[in-house]
Amino acid sequence: MKRFLILLSLALVLVPAPAMNKARRQVISIETEKTSLVILVHPDGSLETLHYGGILATPEQFLQRKVNTEDYNGSRGATYPATGGRFIGEPALHVKYADGTHNTELCYTGHEVTRRDDCVTTTIGLKDPVTALEVKLVYDAYPKEDVIVAHTEILNGGEKPVELLNYASSSLYIDADDYLLTHFYGAWATDMQMESEVLGHDLKVIESRRGTQATQGNNPSFLLSLDTKEFSETRGEVIAGALAWSGNFRISFEKDDAHRLNILSGISPFASAYPLKGGETFVTPEMIYTWSGEGAGGASRNLHRWGRKYSVYGGGQINPTLLNSWEGAYFSFNTKTLLRMMDDAAGMGLEMFVLDDGWFGNDYPRNNDNAGLGDWEVNTSKLPQGIDYLARHAHDKGLKFGIWIEPEMVNPRSNLAHEHPDWVVQSPGREIYQARNQWVLDLSNPAVEDFVFGIFDRTMQLAPNIDYIKWDCNRVIQSFGSPYLGAEQDRFYVEYTQGLYNVMRRIRAKYPSVIIQCCSSGGGRVDYGSLRYCNEVWTSDNTDALSRVFIQYATSMIYPACIMGSHVSAVPNHQNGNVTPLKFRFDIATAGRLGLELQPKNLSSAERALVDRCVASYKKYRDLVFTGDLYRIASPFDGSYYGLMYVSPDKKRAVVYTYSIRFEPRTIGGKVFRLQGLDPSLTYKVVEQNVDRSCWWGNRKSFRGDFLMNGGFDPTLYGLYQSAVFVLEAE
Ligand code: GLA
Repeated sequence: MKRFLILLSLALVLVPAPAMNKARRQVISIETEKTSLVILVHPDGSLETLHYGGILATPEQFLQRKVNTEDYNGSRGATYPATGGRFIGEPALHVKYADGTHNTELCYTGHEVTRRDDCVTTTIGLKDPVTALEVKLVYDAYPKEDVIVAHTEILNGGEKPVELLNYASSSLYIDADDYLLTHFYGAWATDMQMESEVLGHDLKVIESRRGTQATQGNNPSFLLSLDTKEFSETRGEVIAGALAWSGNFRISFEKDDAHRLNILSGISPFASAYPLKGGETFVTPEMIYTWSGEGAGGASRNLHRWGRKYSVYGGGQINPTLLNSWEGAYFSFNTKTLLRMMDDAAGMGLEMFVLDDGWFGNDYPRNNDNAGLGDWEVNTSKLPQGIDYLARHAHDKGLKFGIWIEPEMVNPRSNLAHEHPDWVVQSPGREIYQARNQWVLDLSNPAVEDFVFGIFDRTMQLAPNIDYIKWDCNRVIQSFGSPYLGAEQDRFYVEYTQGLYNVMRRIRAKYPSVIIQCCSSGGGRVDYGSLRYCNEVWTSDNTDALSRVFIQYATSMIYPACIMGSHVSAVPNHQNGNVTPLKFRFDIATAGRLGLELQPKNLSSAERALVDRCVASYKKYRDLVFTGDLYRIASPFDGSYYGLMYVSPDKKRAVVYTYSIRFEPRTIGGKVFRLQGLDPSLTYKVVEQNVDRSCWWGNRKSFRGDFLMNGGFDPTLYGLYQSAVFVLEAE
């Protein structure tokens, strides 16, 4: 378990501060092209965050400001507030020392700035003079994307062990008249629901204690609109934040008596008082921030651009369209069923076939969800010719081949559960509760890490060319406990997630090009921590097109479209969803990474013709979905319509999606969508996709960008579940 404690001594070559309690008063300015984060070093060595927002060309002018000693000393706007000194609010850092004391007062020791490619890193050193606890605040600034990524390294510089009771990744003080918080909550099949509230003076906390499916309840991300009580897509200052961590997290918002807001973000300290021996360093996850003066849309685009370039594995690459076997076949298939599905997938112009759950287990065959998890050998009665045979068939048909695993889990009815009962998460003498008939394997145990890596590794060997792995994780952790950790249970939640990342790192070292989909009963692991290793996520188990409007809309606030697995299923879908037209379902699914999740042989010939057409057209414009800039042109919360568009970085091409999502009687008239992000002076030819007769009078005509953005774009979407997709090409 010590493997995670990076034994970096804080031997940074920092610009030394003259002496403790006599720091030079100075500003540290961390800048991107359009933003500044300004930190003031007070003469007593305490740090105060003065500004995060639009760029300040002369931040040193803050030095002219007169200060009252009692306003600083860590009591106002502290950059990384620790329990102790004058600070009595929610702490970023709370340390309990071996002698039972709780006080830490961090003083500036120096800072340094380094450059690597496009990233400028500012590292600020802090130290508690009494206890020898040291902290490094690390800020990576990405100038072009206007993103600042913060993390913290905490060193126990003393000899005796300490306990970290709070160890935030970052603290950020903001100053505004009003703060409108938008955050994302959900549950299975209703992942990523969006909610906004004006913050009051009480403490607002977004937290997960779910362990594994950390993001299905709340997502570790938010938007904060400043100086307003109304959410705006296009106007005003917005700060967006996202924590790159797939385990328990906590993001809190606390307004102080001067109405300044402190945003604390990091691993949730719930049941996780982390022990740190003398000389050990704890490195927190990264907190990603951006600021935009152009509303939520601007903040999302910054995060998307940064995510595609620096964070999402394989970001910017185009991932294949696919047919997934789940909703079309569930557990009931044999080789013949799958070959037929593959033939249909190839015939429809899709590019990959993914074999979902149900292919493994012999002593405990996986014919439903109550047996087999853990026994990852091919089920010989369903698939006597093995996976290789299927994968070869796929490749012969020009399809890639993917397969599903759920390696962190075990059914009690499995050989694994009998052979390694001590690998199961459990608390001594207590019932091990089941959810979906399964238990969780203890990834805080290195032997389990090896086993989980082995599952991935062996699955990759089932056929010479496995192109894609869907990594599922279908339950949360309850009644936690690790037989491996013995008396050190406080390490469990942190080291479970670190164990997961260790496995992922090993996988990526050995299999750099396999596409990995991160699924967790749908959107249980949608976060920038997972995305460092995974190319995409299964956005939700709910494939109902109307539900997907809201799920995908909210997901797009923080995460780029290239990660959104988005499938067309039969109607009503398996959650008893709405009966929406096939075209509407396609027009929703094509706004992400398109897939199908149905039994193709059940399609009528007219439906099949539409499928072929929609798949073919998507392949022509999907580079815009994967690499373009997103503009949300109508919110599904504002009325009866929803709309979005992706614009190529050179603004010469775009795809526009428009939908009617509530009944709108003919007499009321159509909706005018104002397009965004185009070049006003370019002329675009507008062509509606997948229809013989367009719903817009301007179809196949050419219009200047300013006309489309400021004038009218009014497709006739009368009636429920009408939709239209247009491709724009500059002439
Ligand atoms: C989860 C996933 C589904 C499917 C099933 C298989 O629910 O989210 O997509 O893979 O498991 O059991």
